[in-house]
Amino acid sequence: MFWKKRKTENRPLKLVVTSDWHHLSPSMYDMDEEFRRMLIQGDGKLTEYSTEIIQGILDEAVREKADAILMCGDLTYDGDAVSLLELKRMLEEVQKKGVKVFLIPGNHDTDNGFACAYRNGTSEKAQMVSHAMFMEEMKESGYAHAVSHDKNSFSYMQALNEKVWLLALDANAGAYGMVRESTMQWAEKVLAKAKRKGVMVLGMTHQNLLAQSQFMGDGFTVRNAPEIRNVFEKYDIRVNFSGHAHLQHHVCTDALTEYCTGSLTVNKECYGIVTVENNGVKYETKHLHVHEEQARKRFMDTVFFQVRHTLEDKGIPEDIMKEMTDYAARVNSAYFAEEDHLGKYREEEAWRLWQMYGQESFWYAYMCSFFSEADT
Ligand SMILES: [Fe+2]
Ligand SMILES: [Fe+2]
Repeated sequence: MFWKKRKTENRPLKLVVTSDWHHLSPSMYDMDEEFRRMLIQGDGKLTEYSTEIIQGILDEAVREKADAILMCGDLTYDGDAVSLLELKRMLEEVQKKGVKVFLIPGNHDTDNGFACAYRNGTSEKAQMVSHAMFMEEMKESGYAHAVSHDKNSFSYMQALNEKVWLLALDANAGAYGMVRESTMQWAEKVLAKAKRKGVMVLGMTHQNLLAQSQFMGDGFTVRNAPEIRNVFEKYDIRVNFSGHAHLQHHVCTDALTEYCTGSLTVNKECYGIVTVENNGVKYETKHLHVHEEQARKRFMDTVFFQVRHTLEDKGIPEDIMKEMTDYAARVNSAYFAEEDHLGKYREEEAWRLWQMYGQESFWYAYMCSFFSEADT
């Protein structure tokens, strides 16, 4: 355990919230053409710079004098042991500098059959992190020194300071995408204790508790999210932090506000600075600026590739198709970073081209959903 004691009375609690690092150790790949192709045809992760970007957020937490880093899961690319152990060493260093780390596993982190090394134009199976290995290797980042922890998953209740606790719920321990019934029974017991003590509790999950967009429901939300939301309401948990969608976004209902933090290695290197003071929670979106331009370009290239693929058999003239794909890449990049004034993109000529040539496609409906959200 590497925590330095720091006085927290009379000053706001400060947290750095980050998600979906998807770290792949540089020792697990070479940058040959096949690996590059995989990166472009994936979902836009700037994998080859993951070490520097993650070091960037750890340094930022030290600079910000944050009390803790909350990491909402998907630490590694696809759950290989070398990458996880590399991260463990990096986290030990930041903990030595006085910043606590509280994390949970994502769906990619444990028992992942896709754990691979990528060399010489092919992939080969690598040592996969089991749930038991994750529990053992990462226990210093939240689980081991918690107020209470669940025996069957990496779920725990952690005191962030004297007045604020964190309930971290692991939905990826065997029951993929679902928080087990026994875990929820444990959670209710410890939430009752929090209520007796009068502390405020914040939630953390990997998958979302509220659908973050019209197209991100099933597969993105925790499978028993309604049940968890009921428990949160019963014990007055008003804020949840999640990730998984790789989308920087938040949703408010009367009972719950959920901040979904985007993938740090995708698009605009988004993360959150959260301050908690007098029972109020403020979440501010930030950008890391380590490789922000490359990360944005990788994301836009990926969208460009996918959009072009869906439009190319529609007989659209090349110059028009180029304008449409460029536009879709820009709009998606803005939406994924939760930029304001998204509606302004509807004024562009390229949107008229989409209305003329692309109305039948998924991407048109997808972008319409961004605009209707911006109108509400
Ligand atoms: Fe992820
Ligand atoms: Fe995920």
